[in-house]
Amino acid sequence: MPLLEVKGLSAAHGLVPALHRVDFHVEQGEVVGVLGHNGMGKTTLMRAIMGFVKVTGGDIRFEGSSILGLPVNARARLGIGHVPQGREIFPNLSVEENLQVGIVGGKAAMAGTVAEVLELFPRLERLLDRRGGALSGGEQQLLALARCLCRKPNVMLLDEPTEGIQPSIIDEISETLSALTRRQDITIVLVEQNLEFIAGLCSRVYAISNGILDRQIPREQLTDSRAVSEFMGFVT
Ligand SMILES: Nc1ncnc2c1ncn2[C@@H]1O[C@H](COP(=O)(O)OP(=O)(O)OP(=O)(O)O)[C@@H](O)[C@H]1O
Ligand SMILES: [Mg+2]
Repeated sequence: MPLLEVKGLSAAHGLVPALHRVDFHVEQGEVVGVLGHNGMGKTTLMRAIMGFVKVTGGDIRFEGSSILGLPVNARARLGIGHVPQGREIFPNLSVEENLQVGIVGGKAAMAGTVAEVLELFPRLERLLDRRGGALSGGEQQLLALARCLCRKPNVMLLDEPTEGIQPSIIDEISETLSALTRRQDITIVLVEQNLEFIAGLCSRVYAISNGILDRQIPREQLTDSRAVSEFMGFVT
């Protein structure tokens, strides 16, 4: 049984359809990518799984049960973590306070969880007292990932973690996610436009275009930019 399964999912913004019968699944421990250009429906898909977007057909199943009837916070409590596009950290809270938001348990549990997560984020450990808003974009992205992990998710939905971030920190984010998957049994769904980033992390990659996700790009073709262009709808 897949950990997360999206079946025939359609979704809309108001009356305008944005996802058309999307099918995909993620097994426990897998890192799966969804590659798509601007406006193709990547964020809509992440937000539909979280419960922020109106679903007009199909189903979303987590650990074998439909979650369609559940509100956002109940989906999060089940173990679905979301790192939204644009990161959405709290600019006026310190790095440490950003990490503490949403941890369940008392002070000791909070300190333990933060310390454990920070082992993967040495750069953040040095910035604990800094205001979130005073971090660079890359540091904010690391913070958003660490904050999500503090809530102990089973699956993390990552929405374009490389967007607007300088290459050296993109490498650091990639290494951090690789280390995370080696260290614990975490499942990741990564939506991206950055082919190199997605190819470096994911064992399977789907293509999304115009709200349609019905093709997987074979791994060996991820290094062939012409083949990838065809998957993304560019034919020259
Ligand atoms: N809140 C909204 N209201 C109306 N239309 C929206 C809304 N959010 C997205 N859309 C539309 O839905 C389509 C898919 O957008 P979405 O944000 O999911 O794309 P994306 O693949 O995440 O793009 P990007 O790479 O730019 O983040 C686009 O046509 C977009 O204009
Ligand atoms: Mg988006």
